[in-house]
Amino acid sequence: MVNPENRFKALWDWIVLAVTASAAVEIPLRLALDIPLRGGFLFFDIFISLVFAIDFVFNFTTPAIVNGTLITDKKIIARQYLRSWFIVDLIALIPWDIIFGSGLGWLRLLRLVRLAHIATFMRRVSKANIINGSVLRMIFLGFWVALFAHWVACAWIGLGAGNIGHEWHASKALLYLRSFYWAVTTMATIGYGDVTPITPAQTILTIVVEVIGAGLYGYVIAIFSSLISKLDVAKNQFSEQLEKVNTFMRFRKIPSDLQDKIRSYHEYLWESRRGYDEAHVLSDLPDSLKLQVSLFLNRGILDKVPIFKGAGDDLMQQIVLNLQPVIFTPGDFIFHEGDMGTCMYFISRGQVEVVSKDGKTVFATLTDGNYFGEIALLLSQPRNASIRALDYVDLYTLERNTLEIILEKFPKFQEHIHDLAQKRQAEIKKA
Ligand code: CMP
Repeated sequence: MVNPENRFKALWDWIVLAVTASAAVEIPLRLALDIPLRGGFLFFDIFISLVFAIDFVFNFTTPAIVNGTLITDKKIIARQYLRSWFIVDLIALIPWDIIFGSGLGWLRLLRLVRLAHIATFMRRVSKANIINGSVLRMIFLGFWVALFAHWVACAWIGLGAGNIGHEWHASKALLYLRSFYWAVTTMATIGYGDVTPITPAQTILTIVVEVIGAGLYGYVIAIFSSLISKLDVAKNQFSEQLEKVNTFMRFRKIPSDLQDKIRSYHEYLWESRRGYDEAHVLSDLPDSLKLQVSLFLNRGILDKVPIFKGAGDDLMQQIVLNLQPVIFTPGDFIFHEGDMGTCMYFISRGQVEVVSKDGKTVFATLTDGNYFGEIALLLSQPRNASIRALDYVDLYTLERNTLEIILEKFPKFQEHIHDLAQKRQAEIKKA
């Protein structure tokens, strides 16, 4: 049985979609231009039938996801299919024109009912979140409009193509090109009037296309403009928020150098995390998901800090759930010498300096993967130095309680952290 979520099924769905779309182009074109079903066209027709037939069988046996649960019982799957797409797929599968005689070639058009699958397919692709939802909708809308224009062009040819001119009848390609041009200009309500209807049927088609075209034109413009505005919701929200901050800063006459700092902080937020506050995103999730997301998001810091590398799953989870992200801007003091300490820090990104109380003597520079602030916790004493951010720094804090649990469970880490603390303490005393 094929799992509905596996790669093969996804690839197969794309193949069926491509075949359906090609059939939607080929069948009306062949009928309009009166191309006999021979050679390449016959081969393609057989290929379509084969793909539809295989898909038909697949659908009877592929487990389906209904209301979030995977259904694997064959009987239920078949019943589910019979109740949903069975009729549509069956209509598309049966070679009606062969059964009822080749004079009824237009019955081939019944294959196009399968296009109804496209909406479901689109929903599935947008759920996979591979491309931006708005871009996807624009692609699909473009596809439908182009396909409709093609059908209109084919209908126009089928009805005799109006006063299209002899020169355009010279070849099938020219005839189609001119008819497609008529379809697009009429649909877009441009209507130059150079190709016009002659017969009543052509006139009726023109009226119908004009009326649909006028509505469609407005609809497409409206949808496109709304989709374009939604293309980057995160960026829009962020720009809006920045604009509010800018207005506030102007209104409160905040000094321009401070304004620059605030703007540059917002820029950093955008560049480093697309403006999202990790804690806020996580707070909306249930605990199990929160843990998985935290493990994934904090993977970077866990990989960078050598002492975390050997940690088992339990400990890792405990650490991850207790790491709190904080950001400091260039020049900020994270804490001052003599402060009481309640947590230690891990550097995820950026550089900090370990400095004297007056900030003039630099004892050390620490960067990605290093930690600081452990001595005050280990020796229960005030901070022995001040820490200053050199650039934007992304830090994670770990509270005293969690550190104690980790030290208890991880004797090696305890040894390492104590040794380093002694060395650091000695260096500070020497200076
Ligand atoms: P704590 O005393 O809690 O606060 C200041 C921190 O600076 C200290 O913990 C150490 O983590 C860190 N620190 C102090 N001296 C040095 C040093 N010589 N090299 C690196 N880090 C240091």
